[in-house]
Amino acid sequence: MTLNVCRLTSLFSNPYRKPPKQLVLAILFIVSGYPLFGQATTQTEPYRPQYHFTPKAHWMNDPNGMVYLNGTYHLFFQYYPNDTKWGPMHWGHATSKDMVHWQEQPIALYPDKLGYIFSGSAVVDVHNTSGFGKKGQTPLVAIFTHHNPELEKKKSDKFQYQSIAYSLDEGKTWTKYAGNPVLQNPGIVDFRDPKVRWYEPQKKWIMTLATKDRVTFYASPDLKKWSKESEFGYNLGAHGGVWECPDLLSLEHNGKKVWVLLVSINPGGPNGGSATQYFVGDFDGKSFKPYSTQTRWMDYGTDNYAGVTFSNTGNRTILMGWMSNWQYAQVVPTSAWRSATTVPRLLQLKEVNKEFYLTSTPVNELDVLNGQRFTEKNITVKGAYDLTRKAKNASGLFRLNLTTQTANDFSIILVNERGNELEIGYDKSANVYYIDRSRSGKIDFEKGFGKRHTAPRLSTDKTLSISLLADVASVELFADGGLTVMTDVFFSDKLMNKLTIKSATGITIPTLNYTQLKSSINTKH
Ligand code: FRU
Repeated sequence: MTLNVCRLTSLFSNPYRKPPKQLVLAILFIVSGYPLFGQATTQTEPYRPQYHFTPKAHWMNDPNGMVYLNGTYHLFFQYYPNDTKWGPMHWGHATSKDMVHWQEQPIALYPDKLGYIFSGSAVVDVHNTSGFGKKGQTPLVAIFTHHNPELEKKKSDKFQYQSIAYSLDEGKTWTKYAGNPVLQNPGIVDFRDPKVRWYEPQKKWIMTLATKDRVTFYASPDLKKWSKESEFGYNLGAHGGVWECPDLLSLEHNGKKVWVLLVSINPGGPNGGSATQYFVGDFDGKSFKPYSTQTRWMDYGTDNYAGVTFSNTGNRTILMGWMSNWQYAQVVPTSAWRSATTVPRLLQLKEVNKEFYLTSTPVNELDVLNGQRFTEKNITVKGAYDLTRKAKNASGLFRLNLTTQTANDFSIILVNERGNELEIGYDKSANVYYIDRSRSGKIDFEKGFGKRHTAPRLSTDKTLSISLLADVASVELFADGGLTVMTDVFFSDKLMNKLTIKSATGITIPTLNYTQLKSSINTKH
């Protein structure tokens, strides 16, 4: 987010007056052609994702404080409970046993006299370094940015600082630390989004903080006293916008510990607006040294922003992002709520030409959604190949997996009866994957929304593989085992219930798997 006067003024005057919700919904159902009552899915509102987390109502942006504790995944999120536009930030809360079925919980953190509650992280303080645990209790500690709108209005440059809160009942209730803030602002306008992790070799906490055009690392023995360790990135990576929501994580690769630094930037993404770049390198408890200075993007679509990883998930590293983009997040045509999270993704490393790349793939937990499926073998596509014959029950929720050996041009097209089309494809001459949402339905709410997005194919394998997840109003493309990823939302005039594969030059598909996915809304797991 670029904080601007416009956004803040609108917070105070609240010009967004809403007509009664029932009326809006009724009109939307009539004009949209979306089903009024659930059919194959439990869909009752246009564009409501069925297996991605969305708040029941109102505005959401970044995922925050994601942590796994005693069999429960916790998702906190930037939340404004009074409107469907960004406003004074709270931490909303949702819990899940499997990262697929989410139950929204009461708001976890409210703004207070120190400011709004901006993005941050949560850790399980196993050794009770903070001393918040009483009689052997293990505290859950949230570390977040306080954003002070009063100081901002006064043109101070110190209106963002870091604070902490703790919970002794597994995230149900939170107490803000009386000594907040724990990290004062040294005079940097954008000073936010602390992501904290334990650094075992030196038995200390490391905070990775976005500090305008770089990342600054701080260390602490107890989550309360912080000292600066180093800075990274002032002259490296993409700088088309402010740096936000960083995450420092370590991954095992062939028995070696490799460090990855994620940095979201807005604007300046490869296809416009918000996106997340990453660096691969070493971290010694003090500073981060990248192996390569090339800019790498975690996801080339326009709708995976501010993604960070869960704490405390053992040897799995799992990320969820905000499935939107600051370029249009506040004007997308959803009514009761705005925005969803991406599916949870497993992060791993892969070497291509002796360079490390990050791969993202949907977590296996998502298999619980699998419904009817079919496999086609040895298909030759020359012209158009209609998959709808088999995928009759198409409800806008599916996973399509395919490989092709001859990497000619081809595309997968989601279609509806209104003639809307969303095209996901591979362009051989440019060696890029792409998503074209120019004919996907409603695109006029923002001038850049209808663009075609491209992503380089990084794999050098002859066999190209695709896994495509669709959920009503989004597609997530995981190509070549997650080396190239694209996430895009779209707003078709009616559910995309038809599926076609096209190739003018012709391709052969040895195996294609189509799996219809079930809704996870209101279903217990
Ligand atoms: C990223 C971001 C963060 C900030 C939060 C405010 O989307 O701008 O930098 O903490 O959103 O809601």
